[in-house]
Amino acid sequence: MTTTAPVPASAPAPATPGGKNRPGDAPAPVFSVRNLWKVFGPKAERIPGSEAAGLSAAELRERTGCTAAVRDVSFDVHPGEVFVVMGLSGSGKSTLVRCLTRLIEPTSGSLSIDGEDVLGMDRSRLRELRRRRAAMVFQHFGLLPHRTVVDNIAYGLEIQGVGRAERRRRAAEMLEKVGLAGMGRRRPAQLSGGQQQRVGLARALACDPEVLLFDEPFSALDPIVRRDMQDEVVRLHREEGRTMVFITHDLSEALRLGDRIALMRDGRIVQLGTPEEIVGSPADDYVRDFVRDVPREQVVTARTAMRPARGDEAESSGPAVSPDATVASVIEAVARTGGPARVMDGRRCLGVVDQQRLLAVVAGITPDAAPAAATAAPAAPGTAEAA
Ligand SMILES: Nc1ncnc2c1ncn2[C@@H]1O[C@H](COP(=O)(O)OP(=O)(O)O)[C@@H](O)[C@H]1O
Ligand SMILES: [Mg+2]
Repeated sequence: MTTTAPVPASAPAPATPGGKNRPGDAPAPVFSVRNLWKVFGPKAERIPGSEAAGLSAAELRERTGCTAAVRDVSFDVHPGEVFVVMGLSGSGKSTLVRCLTRLIEPTSGSLSIDGEDVLGMDRSRLRELRRRRAAMVFQHFGLLPHRTVVDNIAYGLEIQGVGRAERRRRAAEMLEKVGLAGMGRRRPAQLSGGQQQRVGLARALACDPEVLLFDEPFSALDPIVRRDMQDEVVRLHREEGRTMVFITHDLSEALRLGDRIALMRDGRIVQLGTPEEIVGSPADDYVRDFVRDVPREQVVTARTAMRPARGDEAESSGPAVSPDATVASVIEAVARTGGPARVMDGRRCLGVVDQQRLLAVVAGITPDAAPAAATAAPAAPGTAEAA
């Protein structure tokens, strides 16, 4: 999330149930997906790996009657990140996210959560996965109309067999967390669309899942409410560091929320990278076309825009920004104070971003390669270290 005070993509996940963060080791992925296929239609299992697998969607349908909704997809979801799957309608996003908990049965490939093989899970293990480990937030909130808001939120806990008093307590806590304090006794029909979606979110959070799966949850909301809900997700993520897989067809939503974005087309992932990578170096013409109108300053980070500090710049009183802050937010900070912004990794100054650098990004001029050396820092501790 590259907003004003972003959570770094590498933020360590707070202790999550089932998380296996070994000290001194890269954290193990939450989801690990390899060569996953989902083909709908007759004799679907014959398609992956066959000659027909290379056909276009239309040709495949014509020749075999099959639709390959997910084609040979591989990726890892890291603990604590917001992993966005973006693509136009029909590109396979919903099928992919449903495959993660086998709400849709994959045709072939492998899939694990915290190292445990999902495809090998029996029914009770699967139930456990869906109820406690990976909670889904849908576009159509799926609230129970005759239940109060609190009882809707507590529903998942009820299924888990959590006692009434504890359910109520946790539901009330979640109600507050999503900004609906005082509305617990209402029925869903007495809430706006945005509020209903907050209830859906609270219901998913109540089960304290390791990972939240969102399938276009905000598409039905009007733009202002939608923006509100995006802020809510950003806030929740920042506060809790919970792992999220977020599906959207909306590029600006993807760029706002995603630590990394997988861009899908016709069932394939055509590019997987940070918002900055996707906008800055599109993998092909399709992606380039997709991101053409994105203002660079909204995705380029301070880490890319900075240059090494000179003289006493590292100790100057200019604004301090995170390496993952967007250039847009740095412009704001620099405009307020005038001086160059110091890019700080904790107490260490990685470099500075001055007005010339900011203008270069806005003008679409690639900054020279100098910052890379500053990132590797130890070479010049005298200048790179903030007092
Ligand atoms: N149950 C199904 N049977 C046949 N085809 C399906 C089924 N579900 C989805 N599809 C097809 O798979 C493709 C991907 O669909 P979907 O995953 O819903 O895309 P998205 O969520 O990106 O809009 C589409 O061509 C869709 O028509
Ligand atoms: Mg969909």
